[in-house]
Amino acid sequence: MIAAGTQSNIEEELPSRTSILVAAVRAFGSREPDENVRNPDSMADLLIGPSELALISDHAVSTALTQDYREASQNPAIVLFAGLMLCRTRFIDESLERAVKKGATQVVILGAGFDTRAYRFGELLKHCRVIEVDAMPTQTYKKRRVREVLQDLPKNLTYCAIDFAKDDLMHGLHRVGFKRDEKTLYIWEGVCMYLPESSVRKMLQTIALHSTSGSTLVLDYANSVGIELGKFTPNSAGGIPTSWAEPWIFGVPGANGSEFFRELGFDPGVPVPAYSPEMVRRYGTRQDGTSYAAHVFEQLQRQAPTPPEVPPIGLLEAQKAVTAAGGVYWFTELTVMSKPLES
Ligand SMILES: C[S@@+](CC[C@H](N)C(=O)[O-])C[C@H]1O[C@@H](n2cnc3c(N)ncnc32)[C@H](O)[C@@H]1O
Repeated sequence: MIAAGTQSNIEEELPSRTSILVAAVRAFGSREPDENVRNPDSMADLLIGPSELALISDHAVSTALTQDYREASQNPAIVLFAGLMLCRTRFIDESLERAVKKGATQVVILGAGFDTRAYRFGELLKHCRVIEVDAMPTQTYKKRRVREVLQDLPKNLTYCAIDFAKDDLMHGLHRVGFKRDEKTLYIWEGVCMYLPESSVRKMLQTIALHSTSGSTLVLDYANSVGIELGKFTPNSAGGIPTSWAEPWIFGVPGANGSEFFRELGFDPGVPVPAYSPEMVRRYGTRQDGTSYAAHVFEQLQRQAPTPPEVPPIGLLEAQKAVTAAGGVYWFTELTVMSKPLES
């Protein structure tokens, strides 16, 4: 394996380390004793072994996974990250269950990384075609690791290697048996922030144009304010080391992206901001009524540094923009609007 450098991972044949990172965070969250706030992705804990942790050894999550859960849960950065992944996993799991109940027969997981839904939802998906799409190095690594741990791959699962920034999505999907007239759920979890805006637009336009109406796309995304704010807090976005060469570069224009998605052919649904009371109510409330991360919020408030008397002007503006936008990181389920299918 080639060492980390400045080239993109796709060219270097390394698996995406952010894909390992987020799976490691789900693995951590799956060890939570309180089932109300436990990450349902316990399979991530099987897939993330010592070799995978070695690939993210410069991130605190790799240590957290080798520690006692309660001890590691005293680290605010770990808990906030695990809380975000808890909401993300459950929001998308619910979208998957809803889509299949409403008649989706194809599930396309874009930038799948270590996604385990083809396995966790084996029964629900038994009559569906599942296609995992990813860049070749990550997909090759994931397939090998899944075979090592679980031996068999589900019969209804197909893999499709694509570079979203270079290749044509539909061309790749059709090669592996995608049927454009079947209702489809696309999952785009933790991916669009890593892509150039032109690639995000092209992917969304392609999906809107070539999917049967009523197909859905569930995703999480930052807005442009969030990307700007990240420049003031280099350890944001999960503290991804710059040496991994996987920076967040794309944020949707506007507060919650609704207009952006509508222009590209989708009903934007009801975007929900991360860390919002709505998210805590849905996924982050413990059996005793407290919130998942309450203990670290208290800790953070006690330790809050005195703000500089004169904060940098750009930061002040960005903070005002966050308040105006209602958040920087969102989840939504888009629906393909009805239109004549193009050939
Ligand atoms: C943060 S990981 C998310 C993985 C997975 N969706 C999850 O949430 O566990 C980002 C994923 O996007 C994929 N990705 C990033 N840029 C890509 C590109 N240009 N083409 C294809 N896949 C890409 C990576 O390979 C990786 O699997």
